[in-house]
Amino acid sequence: ETRPDGQVAWESPSNIALIKYWGKRKNQIPENPSISFTLSNCKTITTLSYKVKENKDTFSFDVFLDGEKKDVFKAKIKTFFERIYVYLPFIKDYHLVIETKNTFPHSSGIASSASGMSALALCLMSVERKISDSDVTLSGVERSENYFKQKASFLARLGSGSACRSIEGDLIVWGENKVVDGSSDLFGTKYPYKVHDIFKDYQDTILLVDKGEKQVSSTVGHNLMFGHPYAENRFQQAHDNLEKMKTILETGNLEEFNALVESEALTLHAMMMTSMPYFILMKPNTLKVINAIWDFREKTRLPISFTLDAGANVHVLYPKRDAVPIMEFIKNELIVYCQNEHFICDQIGWGAKHL
Ligand code: PMV
Repeated sequence: ETRPDGQVAWESPSNIALIKYWGKRKNQIPENPSISFTLSNCKTITTLSYKVKENKDTFSFDVFLDGEKKDVFKAKIKTFFERIYVYLPFIKDYHLVIETKNTFPHSSGIASSASGMSALALCLMSVERKISDSDVTLSGVERSENYFKQKASFLARLGSGSACRSIEGDLIVWGENKVVDGSSDLFGTKYPYKVHDIFKDYQDTILLVDKGEKQVSSTVGHNLMFGHPYAENRFQQAHDNLEKMKTILETGNLEEFNALVESEALTLHAMMMTSMPYFILMKPNTLKVINAIWDFREKTRLPISFTLDAGANVHVLYPKRDAVPIMEFIKNELIVYCQNEHFICDQIGWGAKHL
């Protein structure tokens, strides 16, 4: 064996879905298509060190967050390794050290699974590339950039479904559908059609309404879509909404954009509220923010809207050209609903970066 030891590093962003993924089949196959804006400032930076080891029968790794050893993350990462081992058999040849940090504060209530899992998947792909470049017996096939990104997205999906939409920007589709050519259940693809300039620098200001750990994990939430009374209609609706979104993205009709995005967010939470057992992830301040946004929009006619993830925090979406009055509104009127007045300014981004 002449495989070298080494180190690779990637930073990878979070993303915010406009059409939501909720419900999955075996192997992290989504029940419906989704489309997201890749973010820019909310990201994970991960360094992966690898060192050849003797025993090649088991996984061996350590995880550090902000320089601190975190054994609590090991179970989740081991599950991830078990799922991806057949695609990256070298994992058992090395002792891996995963050192990771987020640009957003942990316990901010912002899920780091999309950025974290995509950063780790990209690091593993870089190791695959390095060891196959340096080991003559392993190389041979020309490995294109497309192969690299597609497989990174494929692997990220097996870590956390939505993570497959964080490899690239700026608009990513995941889940096979008739609207977007080349779409796949297995990995995210760049949205291939014309997008109006108004979306090129879209803003997402994330209001941290509740920083606490959410009571129901997304894994549990997805599973509650099995046997859900409205599941089939919801999955069909996501397909129909993607078709509507295609027209909206082309024309730049923000009135329709806002209506569709808000309806998607509320539908996601409606699915939670109509699951059995049912649950609510919104908090009183989530609703206060939503109502304040509606009042402000009514009054000013500015194209501001909200979306929600599987949590209480509110993503406020608007075009950059209207950032001045909208940021003023956020700072004057919405900040009171944020924990410790905490919010994060983000915007549409271009995907992960090799460091
Ligand atoms: O990637 P997961 O399994 O954590 O699911 C997250 C799903 C939502 O964030 C609620 C919606 C989405 O499409 O990102």
